[in-house]
Amino acid sequence: MPENAAVKKITAFVGTPRKKHTYNAVREFLERLEALGGVECEIVALSDYRIESCRGCKTCFAKGEEFCPLKDDRDVLIDKIMASDGVVFASPNYSFQVSGTMKTFLDRLGFLFHRPRFHGKAFTSIIVQGFYGGGKIVKYLSFVGKGLGFDVVKGTVATALEPMVEEEEKKRNKALKKQSEHFHKTLAKPGNHAPSMFMLMGFRMGRQSVRHTLDESEKDYTYYQEHGWLESDYYYPTHLGVLKKAAGWLFDLIFGRIYKARGGKE
Ligand SMILES: Cc1cc2nc3c(=O)[nH]c(=O)nc-3n(C[C@H](O)[C@H](O)[C@H](O)COP(=O)(O)O)c2cc1C
Repeated sequence: MPENAAVKKITAFVGTPRKKHTYNAVREFLERLEALGGVECEIVALSDYRIESCRGCKTCFAKGEEFCPLKDDRDVLIDKIMASDGVVFASPNYSFQVSGTMKTFLDRLGFLFHRPRFHGKAFTSIIVQGFYGGGKIVKYLSFVGKGLGFDVVKGTVATALEPMVEEEEKKRNKALKKQSEHFHKTLAKPGNHAPSMFMLMGFRMGRQSVRHTLDESEKDYTYYQEHGWLESDYYYPTHLGVLKKAAGWLFDLIFGRIYKARGGKE
């Protein structure tokens, strides 16, 4: 990062009740990031916050998140993400998935998959496991990160049987070093990257769903309208090459027809 660049704020959200292996891996990652310069880091232990289980009423989708019947720390945590240039989601592997605490947190962010707002921010993940299954969790969290709008850097799986042996620690540190370097580079060039074909397809599919199945009484519709997403190339101004322009046009056409055929409006 250039010496005169503004300091980047990094927040790590940690979904473990213990200050043990996951926490240690996060600290190691953040220390390495700090050594690369130009960052200030905060660790947020999710267990220190009130995060209630989503009741599935979908009021956030239809009317807006401000009408959610749950009164917890969701918005405090979202504000922390908004105030960050980059985030880390870290969790132990529990029953081949993220911990319940992390999943409850992700569910509270559910409406943001409809109305993503973290574009231009970097995201990565750290999973710590006893023996197996972390690779799929990292893939899952990468998918989640992309869905929320982040620039995703592939996460790390660390294996830590009790007690953690020196060999495991060395392997973990090597992976975290590489991850921190990659993350640092991503932080240094935030911007309006052209989306992948998959992300472009997701955007066009979403907007055709909004256009043909919702109306101005729905929050998703007015949000898309206010952000110009019913007409724009993508969530943010970006340069799509000829191929992606053509593919985008085709995605709009195909998904528009699908939603109309399912009874959607013109
Ligand atoms: C309820 C529970 C479920 C677990 N499930 C798995 C699992 O499916 N796969 C695995 O490799 N390790 C599993 N583990 C082991 C933890 O992932 C491992 O001990 C990890 O280091 C815990 O992180 P912590 O030290 O930050 O608490 C499980 C541990 C607990 C407590």
